[in-house]
Amino acid sequence: QELQMNLEQIVKGGYEHFMLKEIHEQPNAIKDTYRGRLNAKEGLIRMAGIDDNIERFLNANRIIIIACGTSWHAGLVAEYIFEDLARIPVEVEYASEFRYRNPVITENDVVIAISQSGETADTLAAIKLAKSKGAFVFGVCNVVGSSIARETHAGAYTHAGPEIGVASTKAFTTQITVLTLIALKLAKEKGSISHSNFHYHLQELELIPAKVEKALLQDDHIKKIADIYKDAKNCLYLGRGFNFPVALEGALKLKEISYIHAEGYPAAEMKHGPIALIDEHMPVFVIATKKGHYEKVVSNIEEIKARKGKIIGIVTEGDEAVKSIADHVIEVPETLESLSPLLTTIPLQLLSYHIAVLLDRNVDQPRNLAKSVTVE
Ligand code: G6P
Repeated sequence: QELQMNLEQIVKGGYEHFMLKEIHEQPNAIKDTYRGRLNAKEGLIRMAGIDDNIERFLNANRIIIIACGTSWHAGLVAEYIFEDLARIPVEVEYASEFRYRNPVITENDVVIAISQSGETADTLAAIKLAKSKGAFVFGVCNVVGSSIARETHAGAYTHAGPEIGVASTKAFTTQITVLTLIALKLAKEKGSISHSNFHYHLQELELIPAKVEKALLQDDHIKKIADIYKDAKNCLYLGRGFNFPVALEGALKLKEISYIHAEGYPAAEMKHGPIALIDEHMPVFVIATKKGHYEKVVSNIEEIKARKGKIIGIVTEGDEAVKSIADHVIEVPETLESLSPLLTTIPLQLLSYHIAVLLDRNVDQPRNLAKSVTVE
């Protein structure tokens, strides 16, 4: 029994849970994802799976992204990045819906399937359907040699290392990293990004691991916030643009491991429904980093304040405006708007983690959930 315990401690690298370990692994995981692919000095991105199939991507009418769960959220972030940088139309679909709705797919479509495990049954079935219609299917998987990695025409691994916690953390940020590399590469090939902007992106991407490290230093502060809101019955997560999917992911993380009901929403959609829920018992987590429609998000925050909602802002270092209205702020370092999801995600992961621990939940194996869903 004691030996078993010690072994477990070793595998968890001194962390209390795999989830916490994996959250803290993100600086290195992101580095591992771009290692050998990104060369900021020379302004190069090398990815065999893209290089070998570049024409398929450049001639694509559109990109369809299929995934489930957290991987679907990474796909939504990618939609913003692909459209913004590479100017390719993107649709993001739940694999389970896509496979059963008789989708219009042509030989000129590129399908990107995102899956940490590479074993998700719905995603696998959607891939098979897309292939049968002649689409080119590209996989973004973490598990090497997984079914999805084998079933796709080409792909790029995330190289995040094993993810044990059921709630996905480092798989998400490394998926976004891979997809950002792909978008940048295609943007360069297409000429849809300026030379200087391309270089700027590469340099900023290389700075992300150190900035994630810095975001992780907020842990104690986040724990205190977790303690204040752990008894909430409902929580709302808001974000806009690149950070709208991060709001969805923040809410999913909280639901998964704390069993608190949470909803993610685009900040501007709040007035079309969720605002009716806001009262003094409702914590609202708002991603309000500089650049991303900042002023508009600030006015959303004022609307929440007017209804006595509790506001926890995820803000850029040095922010003043949100700080003066919010109940709490959590700072993340400044970066390009398109890369900001890699930073804003971090405090939301930690927050869910601490709330779940404080509520004595089974963090690594939440009830009713499985790490990979190999049945429909
Ligand atoms: C399950 C897991 C989630 C994951 C989803 C998709 O629901 O609990 O964490 O995001 O499946 O898994 P995949 O392995 O395809 O990314």
